[in-house]
Amino acid sequence: MSMEIQNASKEHAPDLAHLINLAGEGMPEYLWRQLCEGNESPLEVGARRAATEEGSFSYLNGKVCIDEGEVLGMIISYRQPDPYDLSNIDDYPEIVKPLVRLEAKAPGSWYINALATYDRHRGKGAARRLIIHTEDQARLEGCQSMSIIVASENTRAKSLYGHLGYAVLSSLPVLKYPGCLHGGEWLLMTRSVF
Ligand SMILES: CC(C)(COP(=O)(O)OP(=O)(O)OC[C@H]1O[C@@H](n2cnc3c(N)ncnc32)[C@H](O)[C@@H]1OP(=O)(O)O)[C@@H](O)C(=O)NCCC(=O)NCCS
Repeated sequence: MSMEIQNASKEHAPDLAHLINLAGEGMPEYLWRQLCEGNESPLEVGARRAATEEGSFSYLNGKVCIDEGEVLGMIISYRQPDPYDLSNIDDYPEIVKPLVRLEAKAPGSWYINALATYDRHRGKGAARRLIIHTEDQARLEGCQSMSIIVASENTRAKSLYGHLGYAVLSSLPVLKYPGCLHGGEWLLMTRSVF
């Protein structure tokens, strides 16, 4: 095993879209479906957006874990604004609003917006390596804390973050949407890294 973490590139956009959708519990696919043009599939919309330099899900915010040329998993992360302005909250779809409200509770933190590994590569330590690499990146950028949002019913991800020192700071109920994998609550978990 010679896993390494690399910056994501435009060529990784299809992998990013697939994995962002896994990480987002199917919410990205539901939202991308409303942006399809012509015969485009929702995942093609996600890939198109990931290949641009605009928006949270841009490849510029991505790192991939690679082994022998194959993508095992990815992480999308960036620093949250401080202060975090919620004045445009009504512009977001209802199902996204709880996530934005939770994000706003960790202003200035380095936010892990999406993290996922392919099914066949689970349990190899890829997610743990991606998180640790991202924490190093956050420290280099002068950031003092990390944040991540996870569904309370996503026990595997929640336990991974707990073992890495993340603790629940706040929570809000999940607003169900078609294809929603987990109910319960969205948990904002944070960890200090200075
Ligand atoms: C959560 C997820 C990212 C973990 O990825 P991974 O590459 O398997 O993670 P790792 O190999 O680094 O191992 C993570 C933990 O799972 C444990 N684990 C390994 N194989 C396992 C298995 N078959 N079943 C349960 N846990 C297992 C590891 O021991 C490790 O435990 P730790 O908390 O003691 O470190 C992955 O399951 C995933 O992509 N899930 C779908 C998307 C998702 O839920 N993303 C998170 C959204 S917030």
